[in-house]
Amino acid sequence: MPDSSHKRANQNTFSLKRYIDQSMRQVDAALNRHLPKASAKPKTLHESMRYSVFAGGKRLRPILCKAAAEACGGNPKNSLILGSAVECIHTYSLIHDDLPALDNDDYRRGNKTNHIVYGEGIAVLAGDALLTLAFELANEAKPTKRYKQNDFVGELAKTAGHAQLIAGQVADLEGEGKPVSRAQLRYIHERKTSALLTCSVKLGGMSANCTPRQLEALTDFGYHVGLAFQVIDDILDVTQSSEQLGKTAGKDEAVQKATYPSIVGLEKSRKIAAELTTKAYQALKPFRGRAVALEALADYLLKRDH
Ligand code: FPP
Ligand code: MG
Repeated sequence: MPDSSHKRANQNTFSLKRYIDQSMRQVDAALNRHLPKASAKPKTLHESMRYSVFAGGKRLRPILCKAAAEACGGNPKNSLILGSAVECIHTYSLIHDDLPALDNDDYRRGNKTNHIVYGEGIAVLAGDALLTLAFELANEAKPTKRYKQNDFVGELAKTAGHAQLIAGQVADLEGEGKPVSRAQLRYIHERKTSALLTCSVKLGGMSANCTPRQLEALTDFGYHVGLAFQVIDDILDVTQSSEQLGKTAGKDEAVQKATYPSIVGLEKSRKIAAELTTKAYQALKPFRGRAVALEALADYLLKRDH
């Protein structure tokens, strides 16, 4: 069968809703297995970690991790521990981002933020514990012929570290209330959002013993999907209500945060998001129609309304 018709046949039988529902269940079960029990000592800490991990996130990163493993022909079960590790880092970053010292937000995913429920001290420590747990989990993932545990841990450490996630957050913080160029905004988005999304798909591919060429394609895909995701996040902040978003809407403008809509306007921002999504699709060409879930997820992200 030629590639294009093969792809069409796959997409016709593929239900994204079913895929997301099933993957979410698997991800939640994996997280439940890998997180310390709420009753374990120190109870407050473990309750607080679980409170934010199970606060209704979309599980986008672990689902992308799993979809990347499948695109590379691997057993998706082996990707779940790595997806869980990424979700721990994501959750830690949100807990800390919401703290009074950073964004000072009372609501996240429609619920009170961690520090509002448990206090600032426990929220800082729950974030620390989740970040550290991520490395423990990556170190327990199943090695493949090409990739060992140190590759998984190294990938996560580089992504969460001083030159990526933290650098993005620093630039974001220092840019508040100041004029920020489009290039500077791109720098922030690459680090604050795109890096962890890229890490998710790379780890999924690595859990499936992907080839260097596949790893390159996944990196390219993650980079563009990640950027599109943040542009859309910025658009939603100005177009949606707090109820729809589950967090305080209009926050970016209130703190004079540089965003795509504030720099280039809404219309142009939408165009940029669509262009980035097209680039993400193009990155999947080497998979020749086997990355159906990744394609559908990129499309879903572009069209999302919360
Ligand atoms: C929403 O993800 C989250 C982002 C767009 C990333 C924002 C990045 C930061 C706040 C960086 C923080 C970093 C540090 C070091 C404090 P989502 O829509 O997938 O959220 P969900 O999991 O609730 O669905
Ligand atoms: Mg923030």
